[in-house]
Amino acid sequence: MGIREDLEAIGAQLKEELASLEMTKALEEVKVKVLGKKGTLSGLLRSLGQLSAEERPAAGQLINKAKEDFTAWIEEKQAILEAKEKEERLRKEALDVTEPRDLPCEGAEHPINAVLNQVLDCFTSMGFEVAEGPQIELDHYNFELLNLPKNHPARDAQDTFYVDDNIVLRTHTSPVQARTMLSKKPPIRIVCPGRVFRADEVDATHSPVFHQIEGLVIDKDVTMGDLRGTLDAFAKRLYGDDIETRFRPSFFPFTEPSAEVDLTCFNCHGKGCKVCKGTGWIEVLGCGMVNPKVLEMCGLDPSVYSGFAFGIGLERITMLRYGIKDMRLLYEGDLRFLRQFR
Ligand code: PHE
Repeated sequence: MGIREDLEAIGAQLKEELASLEMTKALEEVKVKVLGKKGTLSGLLRSLGQLSAEERPAAGQLINKAKEDFTAWIEEKQAILEAKEKEERLRKEALDVTEPRDLPCEGAEHPINAVLNQVLDCFTSMGFEVAEGPQIELDHYNFELLNLPKNHPARDAQDTFYVDDNIVLRTHTSPVQARTMLSKKPPIRIVCPGRVFRADEVDATHSPVFHQIEGLVIDKDVTMGDLRGTLDAFAKRLYGDDIETRFRPSFFPFTEPSAEVDLTCFNCHGKGCKVCKGTGWIEVLGCGMVNPKVLEMCGLDPSVYSGFAFGIGLERITMLRYGIKDMRLLYEGDLRFLRQFR
């Protein structure tokens, strides 16, 4: 048999094999079998050595021509298979972007944080800065500088957790007042949010750990009218324009005079209901003009400067705001409770 017939046979077989191929991987095998180093064409090339010098060039040309043809066929088939495989892959990996899915688990702002942020927004928009201080505090800042010397009877009212004789878990955020007055020159306008501690019972309205936001303003000529105006703005901003404040005389060692502040009951708007126990008012905070003694101990001249301070119980206003009846719900992390605030 001559070279030409051999090549025709190889070509015919190749065509047949290519026609039945389904995958590029199998195509690779066929390619190697025919065109590879140990493939049939290489075999034929090697056999050229047995031909005479006259026959050899023509035979060589035939083989090279066949090689070109075979390569072209294989490449053509390869292109077809690749296109087909790509199409199949795209079909398989297609996403239905319209398919409904379960929503991913979504967190929610804790009601305490939600109210805290509203309160901070309110005061920062009035020009207050946010100040923070340590939760484990020196007796000096928590009591002494706030006009609560050792053995002062008002200390008992605070049910203090003592770490040792001179260190306490802060019973209020007021030590941040003292720290700020000592470290900054007036005018001072700060709000201090934070966790505070008292050896209290745990019940629907008490917890040994809770939160306060303290406010402090110190400048020349600050009056009780400024305090009233500031708290009025706060009340309206948080609960609505028809909410008013009512000041009742009270006592705190660090303020003089001092007041407890009631807000119009936001539930009945003053008519009297269960929430306000029929009075139309709800007590929400303590405040007063900073005691001149405190100013002095914190290095400020009371004949030059005056100021006011107020302390808000965050849990209390959060509970009022959302109608939460039991404070413990705020700490238990029960998702059924928390999800309602999404
Ligand atoms: N520190 C007081 C408390 O914890 C609240 C308060 C702050 C009162 C500032 C007056 C002025 O009860």
